[in-house]
Amino acid sequence: MNSESSLRATDQTAPAQHPPSSPTTSSQPFPIEAVRARFPALRKECAYLDNPAGTQVPGSVIAAVSAAMSDAASNLGGFFKDSQAADEIYVRALAVMADMLGGASEREIVIGQSMTMLTFQMSRSLGHDWRAGDEIVVTRMDHEGNVSPWLRLAEEHGLTVRWLPFNRDSWRIEPDELKAVLNERTRLLALNYASNLTGSINPVAALTRIAKDAGALVYVDAVQFVPHGKADVAQLGCDFLACSSYKFFGPHLGVLWGREDLLAEVYPYAVRCAPQRPPGRHDSGTPQTEMLAGLAAAVDYIEWLGSVTGTIGTRRERISGGYRAATAYEMPLAQHLIDELLSVPQLKVQGITQAARLHERVPTVSVTHPRHANSALARALADQGINVWSGHNYALEVSRALGLDDREGVLRIGLAHYNTAAEVERIATALKQLLRQ
Ligand SMILES: Cc1ncc(COP(=O)(O)O)c(C=O)c1O
Repeated sequence: MNSESSLRATDQTAPAQHPPSSPTTSSQPFPIEAVRARFPALRKECAYLDNPAGTQVPGSVIAAVSAAMSDAASNLGGFFKDSQAADEIYVRALAVMADMLGGASEREIVIGQSMTMLTFQMSRSLGHDWRAGDEIVVTRMDHEGNVSPWLRLAEEHGLTVRWLPFNRDSWRIEPDELKAVLNERTRLLALNYASNLTGSINPVAALTRIAKDAGALVYVDAVQFVPHGKADVAQLGCDFLACSSYKFFGPHLGVLWGREDLLAEVYPYAVRCAPQRPPGRHDSGTPQTEMLAGLAAAVDYIEWLGSVTGTIGTRRERISGGYRAATAYEMPLAQHLIDELLSVPQLKVQGITQAARLHERVPTVSVTHPRHANSALARALADQGINVWSGHNYALEVSRALGLDDREGVLRIGLAHYNTAAEVERIATALKQLLRQ
């Protein structure tokens, strides 16, 4: 069974969304030195464990941004060479993102400043004709980027908001809880794929099926899943899926995949002379061409990781191979981190800790301690060249559901596939020392 079909099989019955850790297709060791050599920032002494807030960037992405600014810094749609180069960058970025997310064509992709901006925009397009008494479902597991746009829409249109809790044992949204909040007035379910605070992965395909059977649209926030796993919009069955390229080794951009018929039909918040049909129907201004070049180069990097670890085939197959290799390397590293953290007295991991359930999470691990402020710990770690975040990290509802202080939240340690066991041991040792004080 290849990893694509194993993803499908697991999602139907169990929470698993990641393929269980397995060797790369070629069973080569993970090329960690070659990987790290591609990221200029990793030459510094610093341990980058702040990845859920933004990943480092390969030199090839930086070069692509720079080249676009030399050779394609013209607006789109002109008769001259630099404008045509900009057109090519635009079209390629859409095509590459469609491939990466499992979309059918570039007409299903909208690129904008950030996931949050795109979600504010699309919430207005979708909700344009919704009326008082219509209902939307948001979760207590989501980042504000997939909560606030819908809450503000509800305020404007008099919509009823239903809140979906996450289960404190499974750390995910349970199908039965979803069924309880749906009814014939439900217009939309806004749901995340993986939590940016607990790291747990939702059974998105199963939840989507339930919501769609009730007649609701499903808008998935995949910002924290896409840096670690291959999203497949066709398999998920959702209507929209959003991500951010600065979380997957690219520049600061948001990317939205949407069903073409919906993108073609919903009210566009764009200028009157924008294209009437996708792609481009929801572009609200001049595209950030240089960033689009960097975005495509970030996907090329994941594809390279697939090739270098032995996957051959189409671009999507090589992208899949890149994700497989990254998962097989970074998830055992995550378990190593969790085990180290569990060995510290009174330190609480706010998420899944069992090795047998590793495939139900991404390698983002948050902790709390009864006596230590997370901001003080993050500052002390920064002084030692270890980058991590503290606070609610915009997972405001998660933080509150866990009974945490709004400002202090958690100490969040997030791995990417370029981190090493030495870095895990470095933060564990540093934390143990700090917590003894
Ligand atoms: C799960 C999740 N959703 C949405 C966002 C917002 O993304 P953006 O910064 O592109 O608006 C983030 C950012 O941290 C996130 O982690």
